[in-house]
Formats: sequence, structure tokens, C-alpha cells
Amino acid sequence: VSTHLAVVLREPPVGELTPESFEVVDRPTPEPGPGEVLVEVSELSLDPYLRATLVGRHLGDAAVPVGGTVPGRAVARVVRSQADQLTEGTWVLAETGWQERAVVRAETAKVVTVPDGIPRSAVLGALGMPGLTAYAALRRHVQPAPGDTVVVSSATGGVGAVAGQLARIAGARTVAIVGDEQKQETALSVLGYDEAVIRGRDGWEEQLAAACPARIHGYVHMGDAPTLGVVAEMLAIGARVSLVGIQDSYGDGPRTMLRAGAVMSARASVHGMVVFDHLDLEREQTTRIGRFLQEGRMVLHEDRTTGLASAPEAFVRLMAGRNQGKVVVEVS
Ligand SMILES: NC(=O)c1ccc[n+]([C@@H]2O[C@H](COP(=O)([O-])OP(=O)(O)OC[C@H]3O[C@@H](n4cnc5c(N)ncnc54)[C@H](OP(=O)(O)O)[C@@H]3O)[C@@H](O)[C@H]2O)c1
Repeated sequence: VSTHLAVVLREPPVGELTPESFEVVDRPTPEPGPGEVLVEVSELSLDPYLRATLVGRHLGDAAVPVGGTVPGRAVARVVRSQADQLTEGTWVLAETGWQERAVVRAETAKVVTVPDGIPRSAVLGALGMPGLTAYAALRRHVQPAPGDTVVVSSATGGVGAVAGQLARIAGARTVAIVGDEQKQETALSVLGYDEAVIRGRDGWEEQLAAACPARIHGYVHMGDAPTLGVVAEMLAIGARVSLVGIQDSYGDGPRTMLRAGAVMSARASVHGMVVFDHLDLEREQTTRIGRFLQEGRMVLHEDRTTGLASAPEAFVRLMAGRNQGKVVVEVS
């Protein structure tokens, strides 16, 4: 009997995530039944919503039971098929969970198509769910126009890197809010932001104000509560805010509040983002971002680790804000 590695939940996390919540186990590889395929995972995506999924707090998803495989989406290759529509060797995007091999129902696996020259892992990031989040936040909420100043927090992450580049391509002046020097450097020299400010440092509020002399017309929020508070006081008249992530509250942190008076005096509109409401934009997103990637007007920014066993550490780093880009685990 052949076996493969899987990462299972050892104990539900409470507060800040640690690798002790997870355990790497060896388990028998099942055979696909009718309508199913066995896939070999190539690249696994790690995304912040999984922290909430583990404990049953993400939309309607059930909590992961102790001993259950950690859920997750991956680029994988079909190695055995019991479904006519997916032949062996086909590359798919599938909900495999954190494991080297998985049996999935064929109709839930999506054939991977990427433009020539673009790595398949793009379907986990800019051409996938994080990219759609950024695309919809800009297209439907922020609606950047030439001359606008658009601020993005978590600006070099999976969603933020795409949002910032899209806003720049739309002609906006773009300002990154980031967590450290390395991200600041990336924001400026790789992702093309006009300015980048490190949140929480002495004088950072003044630096942000100086970077936004015409105040802030659009803001994509994915950072911590204090950052939202600071940005709210700098909104321009008619500003648009997309609330995309509350990264600091996933580990049972404080609730994020927004000062009503700041919204009111700016006549701002504040939109809540749930990416699944915007699936109708998927084709437009992949066509446009695919073209920007091919033309070199946009770049993929990935934080890659090697081996399934690296997933728990990589996820802990992501949830602590220490990732540098879209987190992808190279499984095989
Ligand atoms: N609403 C939706 O439908 C939707 C869809 C996709 C993603 N999201 C959300 O969007 C956000 C970004 O997702 P992503 O995959 O692109 O992740 P990411 O930005 O690559 O990683 C999370 C980032 O959060 C930042 N952060 C700010 N304050 C933090 C804190 N107190 N603790 C830890 N990290 C902190 C860190 O960046 P800095 O150090 O640079 O600040 C960190 O790198 C997440 O909150 C995610 O849940 C929402």
C-alpha cells in the first residue's frame, strides 16, 4: 500500500497561531472511485482565511476536527482518473487540503490555464482568489482614476501586491503601508508603489500624510486596526474604502472600529468585501491581469517554501505578518 504525507490538526488554535496546532502524518493513499481523480499536489496555497476555517469561523465552513486534514487549495496533476473529463496528466486547481496526494471529485477540480510564460502558481495568487479580491475591490469599490491617491495596507501580500499594481496601472498615485524594511523595499522597487511607509514606526503617521498631499481617495484595508484609524483621518472628500481584511483580529485580537465622524465629514463610502460575491468578474480579472503579467506591467510576488512539512511554519509566519508575498508551498 502506498502512503503520502498529510498535515492534520493536532489541536484547535487559541489566540496566536503556533506550529504545535499541526502534525505531519503518513497515511495510506486512497484509490479514486467513479467520478473521482487521484491528484499529486505540486504547489499548495496558504491563505489567511484558513485560520478562521480551522475553528469554524469562516463563512459557513465547518470547523476542522482534531486529526482532520487541514483544508487548502493547490495546483495538482491528475495521476489516476475515474472520470472521463479529466485525463491523467491534466493540471488542475483543486481543494486537496495540506497533503501530497488527494482524491477529489472531478467536477470540483478546475483545469489550470495560464497565459504563455506565466507560472501555473499564478492561479493561486494574481490569477486566482487573492487576485479576484484585489480586482473586485478596485473595480467595484475604490474605482481609481488618474490623479487619485490610493493607499493599500498589507501592500506587498497576496492581495495587496495585486491591488497596488492595478491601481498604478489605472493611473493612480499609489502608497503602500507595510510592516518592515524588506517589504518597503519590495513595494518601491518591485511592485512600483510611489511611496511606502512602515506602519507603527515613530513618525509614520506624518510620513503617510506627507506621502498623500492631496489626502486619500481610495483605500484597500487589510492591515491592523490602528492603521485603519490613521487612514480614516486622512480621507479626501468622496473617498472610497474597501474593507478586505482584518488581519490583526483573526488570532482573537481586538475588534476593528471605524470613526463615524471621519467617514461622515469625508462623505466617504465604505464597502465590505467578500470575494465570493464577485465571481462574475473572474473572466475579466484573469484576462486583464493575465495580459498585464505577460506584458510585464505586473509581476508575481511569491513567498515560496519547500516541502509539505514546511506548511505549518509558513502558515504561522503568514498569520504573524512575516510573509514576503503570496505564500506558496512547493510540495512536489
Ligand atoms: N474579504 C475577502 O473576500 C478576502 C479575500 C482574500 C483575502 N482577504 C483578506 O485580505 C488580507 C490579505 O490576504 P493575503 O492572502 O494577501 O495575506 P498577506 O497580505 O499576504 O499576509 C497578511 C499580512 O497582513 C499584514 N498585517 C497587518 N497587521 C497584522 C497583524 N497585526 N498581524 C499579522 N499580520 C498583519 C502583514 O503585512 P504587513 O506587515 O506588510 O502589514 C501580513 O504580511 C487578509 O486579511 C485576508 O484574510 C479577504
